[in-house]
Amino acid sequence: MKILKVAIIGCGNIFPMHAQSIKVVNNATLVAVCDNKEDRVKLKAEQYNCSYYTDYKEMFSKEDIDVVHICLPHFLHAEVSIYAAKLGIHIFTEKPMSIGLSDAQDMIKAAKDNKVTLGVIFQNRYNPGSQLIKKSLESGELGKILSGKMEVTWNRSDEYYSHSDWKGTWEKEGGGVIIDQAIHTMDLLRWFVDSDVDYIEANISNRVHEIIQVEDCAEGIIKYKNGVVTAFHAINYYSYDAPVKIELHCEKGMVKMLGDRGHIKFNDGIELIADNNPEDIFDYGNGAKGYWGTSHTKQIKNFYASISAGLQPDITGDEAIKTQKMVCAIYESGKKRVRIKL
Ligand SMILES: NC(=O)c1ccc[n+]([C@@H]2O[C@H](COP(=O)([O-])OP(=O)(O)OC[C@H]3O[C@@H](n4cnc5c(N)ncnc54)[C@H](O)[C@@H]3O)[C@@H](O)[C@H]2O)c1
Repeated sequence: MKILKVAIIGCGNIFPMHAQSIKVVNNATLVAVCDNKEDRVKLKAEQYNCSYYTDYKEMFSKEDIDVVHICLPHFLHAEVSIYAAKLGIHIFTEKPMSIGLSDAQDMIKAAKDNKVTLGVIFQNRYNPGSQLIKKSLESGELGKILSGKMEVTWNRSDEYYSHSDWKGTWEKEGGGVIIDQAIHTMDLLRWFVDSDVDYIEANISNRVHEIIQVEDCAEGIIKYKNGVVTAFHAINYYSYDAPVKIELHCEKGMVKMLGDRGHIKFNDGIELIADNNPEDIFDYGNGAKGYWGTSHTKQIKNFYASISAGLQPDITGDEAIKTQKMVCAIYESGKKRVRIKL
């Protein structure tokens, strides 16, 4: 079995989810880390016993890398992915794929042209609750989806923004509560409905965070080509990170997701429930946050197993761009105050 040599670029908040997960993948080994903050990257290199760089181009020129994980600010995802693809390096990027849609298309093209794999993190699809709902919808036992709704009411303080040199800006984060926080729940709902989007109509506004440019509130509807209409509401000025909510009203039952817990109640009274296993705890090290869950490891394992089997991973660029299109259309609709037909 070939052991893939891995680099991670970006040693911030999400770094431990990737670094610790790579440790438990049997065909991968972390050989280099990169961050433009030298003190930060040096510490990670000591912790993981690997080389470190402050310039990703230098890292690629000096190291023999098979796979790069991109844990960078949003505006750098496309640039670094395309650079790596051209060197024949497989890419695994954090969400969102990119800021703009054309960047995401260029990432997919670069990966295909250079015959490398492009994976995008949407780890919540691997939660047992999400898996239960997806499988039940796919089996047909719930009948058609009649309508759906989702709600994300989280808290991102002024300090969260003032401590970052990229969050809260259109140029570097690409948006606020939608592209950064609610994107996970939007991706889940879209994956459940499993249809192309017909149109989107959205309002976005900044209501509480005076120090940022981007929206901290968004609401609207997404009408899918299969006729399903879903409503969404997202804010990040609630007093705490309340469990996200998804509801799908189906012909033969009601689907509810509260946080990571999936709950299905069929019209005949039968109920199915799936939640994260409390035993399924993964030590992501200092600074890891509970609400990110354990599913990064599951998705990262799928990515490496796919590469070694010569298959595509579950969440490819082609899959993730569907959610990216939705996010971009929400912004376009919100800014222009028009309905966006996809
Ligand atoms: N999947 C999830 O649940 C989840 C959770 C948190 C963050 N994320 C995503 O992870 C990514 C990173 O987020 P974060 O919260 O870790 O951000 P962060 O700001 O904590 O970390 C980003 C790191 O990149 C470094 N960096 C910036 N420019 C660089 C460059 N040119 N070269 C090398 N290093 C550079 C910074 O110094 C910083 O250490 C984002 O895409 C974010 O949306 C995903």
